[in-house]
Amino acid sequence: MSPSASASEDAGPGTWGRPTVRVGLLGCGNVGSALARLLLTDAGRIAERTGVALELVKVAVRSASKERDVPGVERLITTDPFGVVRDPAIDVVVEVMGGISPARDLVLEALRSGKPVVSANKELLANHGAELWDAAAAAGVDLLFEASVAGGVPLIRALRESLAGERIHRVMGIVNGTTNYILTRMAASGATYQEALAEAQSLGFAERDPTADVEGYDAAAKAAILANVAFGAKVVAGDVYREGISHVSGQDIEAARRLGFVIKLLAVVEAGEDGALGVRVHPAMVPEAHPLASVSDSYNAVFIEGETVGQLMLLGRGAGGPPTASAVLGDLVDAAHNLTVKGVARKLELREVPIRPIDDLRCAYYLSLFVADRSGVLSAISGVLGRHNVSVRSMEQDAPEPEPGVAGPSRPDPGRPEPAREAQAHLVFVTHPAFERDMQACLHELRQLDSVRRIGSLVRVVGH
Ligand code: HSE
Repeated sequence: MSPSASASEDAGPGTWGRPTVRVGLLGCGNVGSALARLLLTDAGRIAERTGVALELVKVAVRSASKERDVPGVERLITTDPFGVVRDPAIDVVVEVMGGISPARDLVLEALRSGKPVVSANKELLANHGAELWDAAAAAGVDLLFEASVAGGVPLIRALRESLAGERIHRVMGIVNGTTNYILTRMAASGATYQEALAEAQSLGFAERDPTADVEGYDAAAKAAILANVAFGAKVVAGDVYREGISHVSGQDIEAARRLGFVIKLLAVVEAGEDGALGVRVHPAMVPEAHPLASVSDSYNAVFIEGETVGQLMLLGRGAGGPPTASAVLGDLVDAAHNLTVKGVARKLELREVPIRPIDDLRCAYYLSLFVADRSGVLSAISGVLGRHNVSVRSMEQDAPEPEPGVAGPSRPDPGRPEPAREAQAHLVFVTHPAFERDMQACLHELRQLDSVRRIGSLVRVVGH
């Protein structure tokens, strides 16, 4: 099917005097229903503003009986997504169902049959992007995916179009709203990680099973897509080094504040001088003065550093139905316009790029240790750091806290004398830049020291 033939030439009443592009929607959850509402209630204004007349004609869902608060959508509902893709009356397919199967087959079939696809599916793109972009290029149609990273923030288009020829050095993003909300609440109210997570769940930000968000999988998929778009690098989600936020404690956040930092979960993609690409997701200490430090609650932001453009940041709503539907709509207007003018967006060119192992990362570190509060401990620790070329920039000692489980009101036999309570200290180090492999070797040796009770956290410092 040629793109021009697929858009109806009917310019009669109801089509605002323009060729109508007929849309099939796969998925009607938060994003799908927000998009359906826009298309069903606001198509006239959209056509007026963009010159593109969009008509939603079918909506594929898993359960037809579910109530949907979208006026007029019931008559469009079907439970046959392949029927939508194969319907000759549908010109453009929007995939917001999520997951890999059957989304991958549906998107491939749509593209191969000459239908442009708009997708918000980060998991699909971060795992099968190259195959899908190749299929789109082979068929000469669009595969657009603005909503797959940072929801309503128009980031992909900025990178692909506005910064198309820019030599990007680094992209650092807060690309997961759930974890940003949790970290913000921990910092603002002193809530523990568990309390802040429960609050995020009660407000509907966090899923009942929060693993994908809090362990960084969601952000890692987005980091892979950022590597594709900003660096043209063939990177998939599994290539991304990943750590989540579940081990970040209130003490870390408080220590970071005293030291002039904020802890954020960052997705970082950066080009090394050797041509290798660093792609990682982990909690990071961000200096308070850095623009990313002030991005709070469930907001997303991406900070871009380029050779000629310098530094810039895009900030906005990274999740939620309406913001994400806004990004999908922008893509849909482009895809529909391209269809009517027989055009197509530039192909996303991807090449194999070596991925820098995390061991080769060089940055400053925040290290928190719980140690016995006795003489000789500091020199033992500094001996370990020194042997591995890790130089300390600053060190502070917190008020000692009791060793858990040694003594206390829940002691099983309160009749017996209390065992001697060993004083414990919390030490916080910030290092000068060091290699990750050296820091990891330090951690390994520190764990062997009799005086080190527990490693609290190791958090990388970025944005200095
Ligand atoms: N769960 C994501 C977040 C939104 O919390 O940002 C969808 O990518």
